[in-house]
Amino acid sequence: MANIGIIAALDCEIEMFISDFAAKQTDNKYIYHGKYSGHDIYLTLCGIGKVNAAICSQRLCDYVDLDVIINSGVAGGVCDKLNVCDVAISDTLTYHDFRPLQLLDKYSPGRSVFKADNKLIKLANNACKYLNETGEKFNYENGMIVSGDIFVEDNEYKKHLKEEFNAVCTEMEGAAVVHTALVNNVSALVIRAISDNADGSAGMTFDEMCQIAAVRASKIVKEIIKNY
Ligand code: ADE
Repeated sequence: MANIGIIAALDCEIEMFISDFAAKQTDNKYIYHGKYSGHDIYLTLCGIGKVNAAICSQRLCDYVDLDVIINSGVAGGVCDKLNVCDVAISDTLTYHDFRPLQLLDKYSPGRSVFKADNKLIKLANNACKYLNETGEKFNYENGMIVSGDIFVEDNEYKKHLKEEFNAVCTEMEGAAVVHTALVNNVSALVIRAISDNADGSAGMTFDEMCQIAAVRASKIVKEIIKNY
């Protein structure tokens, strides 16, 4: 049985895990513990942005010897194949707002692209397939997820994310979570359901769709855990 960490930025991205796993606050007020499918699950709400994500991921790694850390939540869609409520599975992750990015290759941590765990990627694809076969209909894509301290809501910047990174989606925490996990030798994955198209209407659809998209991401994460 594994120790599995789940980290999310917003209340609406974590609250269903806390209730479904009957998770209780631990002696660390930021960390909740529950059980699911025989595994020990450690949950934390990190807030928005890369620094918050790194602080909370490290806190989780220091609290318990994790086997896995999963970042679940919503994102702005960048690739044409993903629409609102479709799902992005991280293959690799990087920072879209770190310039020049190659400095991360030259200095610590010696890499600028962070690889998600292959076993978790496979389980995520199986989970999406299973959910599609059993009632939910959505597209899912594997690819690069780009993170930065920017809520992307303009077409020019979205075009840049497409051309420069061939990104599937953009959000504000995932690369920092996987970066921190890899430094701690923990396997990691990011699952993001699309809440908006990272364009001029992003603010509007985000408010409308955040909750629904976050629930979709959580269903995939639960399926991954069941089969881990
Ligand atoms: N999370 C959800 N939508 C986003 C967007 N458009 N930009 C950055 N993070 C997001």
